[in-house]
Amino acid sequence: MPSLLSLLCILLSLFSFDTSALAASQANMSEIDRQALLCFKSGISFDPFGILHSWSNGSLNFCSWKGVTCGKKIPPRVVSLDLTSARLGGRLSGCVGNLTFLSLMNLADNYLPGTIPGELGKLPNLHTLNLAGSNLEGNIPESLGTSNSLSYVNLANNSLTGGIPVSLANSVSLSTLILSRNNLSGEIPSVLFDNSSKLTVVDLQKNSFTGPIPHFHTVTTLKFLCLTENFLSRSIPPSLGNVSSLSSIFLGQNRLSGLIPETLSHITKLLELDLSFNSLSGSVPSSIYNMTSLRYFSVGSNTLVGQIPSHIGYSLSNLQLLILGSNRLKGLIPASLANMLNL
Ligand SMILES: *[C@@H]1O[C@H](CO)[C@@H](O)[C@H](O)[C@H]1NC(C)=O
Ligand SMILES: *[C@@H]1O[C@H](CO)[C@@H](O)[C@H](O)[C@H]1NC(C)=O
Ligand SMILES: *[C@@H]1O[C@H](CO)[C@@H](O)[C@H](O)[C@H]1NC(C)=O
Ligand SMILES: *[C@@H]1O[C@H](CO)[C@@H](O)[C@H](O)[C@H]1NC(C)=O
Ligand SMILES: *[C@@H]1O[C@H](CO)[C@@H](O)[C@H](O)[C@H]1NC(C)=O
Ligand SMILES: *[C@@H]1O[C@H](CO)[C@@H](O)[C@H](O)[C@H]1NC(C)=O
Ligand SMILES: *[C@@H]1O[C@H](CO)[C@@H](O)[C@H](O)[C@H]1NC(C)=O
Ligand SMILES: *[C@@H]1O[C@H](CO)[C@@H](O)[C@H](O)[C@H]1NC(C)=O
Repeated sequence: MPSLLSLLCILLSLFSFDTSALAASQANMSEIDRQALLCFKSGISFDPFGILHSWSNGSLNFCSWKGVTCGKKIPPRVVSLDLTSARLGGRLSGCVGNLTFLSLMNLADNYLPGTIPGELGKLPNLHTLNLAGSNLEGNIPESLGTSNSLSYVNLANNSLTGGIPVSLANSVSLSTLILSRNNLSGEIPSVLFDNSSKLTVVDLQKNSFTGPIPHFHTVTTLKFLCLTENFLSRSIPPSLGNVSSLSSIFLGQNRLSGLIPETLSHITKLLELDLSFNSLSGSVPSSIYNMTSLRYFSVGSNTLVGQIPSHIGYSLSNLQLLILGSNRLKGLIPASLANMLNL
């Protein structure tokens, strides 16, 4: 059976060819990650704790470099880069865009003045991006919104300017968006609260956003909404009351006007409601004084009128903080307040 034998030979040679080719390509794929890490390091000029000391060109085992975690698959690829609070100083290089398998990048609390490289948005597996408190400047790259994997974005406590890219606001994978304490401006994209089936946390406090709060359309998972200390104007959209998943709403220190929507009282699990320091008018809808879930309720420093209902101490019996000051409320302070044992 010579034909069988030759077939076996062909199979064997195919097999051995395949394994050596595979080994070569594996080595190459890992080498791309190693080079990308070395390239990232070359952007860092200040490393007081010697965190990147293990990252040397002579060391092939980059999976054991400090802050680097590789996946379990072969060839080894970098899945996580965590150098939070390493006090690194320098520039965040676009080379990290070559870490194709990267899922988590946490460079929070470093000193990396410069812009966020657009290459980050092209990482097909990036899930968590935390660059908070790292002195970053410039705009949020448009490319971040093109990622289908990005779920957690925390860019708080930087000096970012410009607006929220519409593509990012429209992202279907986004669950947490924390952009607090920057100098971002412009309107909040109207699509941010449209068809958002994963959005859970939105924190945009202490920026320079203007214009209205967008409408809420099919938002089913949002728990925490903080838009405090911006320049948002016009009235609070009644559709906010349709977001029944909410537990915290912070809209204080803006330029909101008009009436407090009665629909807010439909949010049965709401714990915190802060509408203070705005120009809200009319009276507080009586149904809001019946939201038994509330722990924190502040409408201080507006132009609200009307009376405080006498039953408030029973209907809001779980309140820990109640701020109604600096308005135009009239009438008596209800004796039932004595029933609020946690106030
Ligand atoms: C991959 O490895 C092969 C064989 O070692 C080499 O010829 C080739 O240049 C490498 N390619 C890259 C992109 O490193
Ligand atoms: C790493 O070492 C190789 C071989 O010695 C050298 O060609 C290359 O330039 C080095 N790369 C860096 C980033 O130092
Ligand atoms: C990514 O890797 C490729 C191939 O190894 C290289 O040519 C390119 O310069 C790298 N890109 C960055 C931004 O470092
Ligand atoms: C931003 O800085 C403030 C004040 O230093 C701090 O309380 C907050 O936790 C920081 N936020 C993030 C997301 O790092
Ligand atoms: C923030 O940006 C506005 C213009 O968009 C500018 O007037 C203001 O000075 C900036 N504030 C800071 C603290 O950079
Ligand atoms: C939201 O989803 C609905 C139904 O899938 C669709 O008709 C609508 O155009 C979407 N809206 C936006 C702003 O994407
Ligand atoms: C709330 O949702 C319901 C059902 O989807 C819809 O009919 C209604 O118009 C929404 N209310 C507001 C104020 O958007
Ligand atoms: C609020 O609760 C009080 C006391 O239970 C009740 O008399 C009143 O009708 C309620 N108001 C609304 C708007 O639900």
